[in-house]
Amino acid sequence: MKVIAIVNQKGGVGKTTTTINLASALAMLGRQVLVADLDPQRNATSALRCGQDYYGSSINDAIYCAVAGLPWSPADLILSNAVEHVDYLPATAVLATAPTLMATAKDSTGVLRQILRQPYFEKYDYILLDCKPSLDLLVSNALTAADQVIVPVEPEDFAIDGLVDLLDTLDQIRDRANPELALNGILVSKINRNRKKARRIEGELRDTFGPAVYETVLPNLAEIGNAQDKRHSVVQEPGSRLGELYLQLAKEVMQR
Ligand SMILES: Nc1ncnc2c1ncn2[C@@H]1O[C@H](COP(=O)(O)OP(=O)(O)OP(=O)(O)O)[C@@H](O)[C@H]1O
Ligand SMILES: [Mg+2]
Repeated sequence: MKVIAIVNQKGGVGKTTTTINLASALAMLGRQVLVADLDPQRNATSALRCGQDYYGSSINDAIYCAVAGLPWSPADLILSNAVEHVDYLPATAVLATAPTLMATAKDSTGVLRQILRQPYFEKYDYILLDCKPSLDLLVSNALTAADQVIVPVEPEDFAIDGLVDLLDTLDQIRDRANPELALNGILVSKINRNRKKARRIEGELRDTFGPAVYETVLPNLAEIGNAQDKRHSVVQEPGSRLGELYLQLAKEVMQR
């Protein structure tokens, strides 16, 4: 079982899109996958529930029970998406209170790790953590629980500065809580290669971070919206270019 956090403190760079499509691609390649929605915006939950609202039991309940020392059962919280062949731990808006709750725990960054250590989760090959655009305690919990990190980056101004801050945070987490935390890779996403600046920044990312940057690059394509309208991932969309690229990315992720 490998836990991978999809992280970038910058909003809108493609974390959730990558989580859902990578999950679906890994499942298509025969892996058992669980997505944990760690964002109170709960976009991953909405996507996997095909846009339906959700107010039931959620990852918040696991966090509450773990902090309060109460028993809980993963099977009561996990839902499945039969089209993507992906299981998921949904979030609700209450997840916004998780950092406050976690701050009261003896090991405030270790709550999620404790949750995912339940033997139930061993059946998964991959657990993908869709993080919120922040570096708060919920994200520190994800980084403490994770074996590896995937960082989607949009090649825009200040992308490298933001990445340097994030890599510093990874170092701090390694020092304090999770020495084994590894970078699976940096994903150039939503790139418009017709723009000279975007190509230049992609080049700078490759010069700065070398082979940490995946060979697979995700172009900014409107087809993502078409798939969202149809309530499934692009991986499930026949003939989708992005779907193929996500499958290619899944193979890179599995090798690292
Ligand atoms: N390759 C792509 N081409 C075009 N649009 C994309 C692509 N990937 C993602 N998007 C769109 O960009 C927007 C932001 O993507 P997404 O929600 O995945 O980002 P995020 O990093 O999870 O955002 P947040 O930080 O708010 O959680 C969405 O509207 C999504 O449909
Ligand atoms: Mg998101």
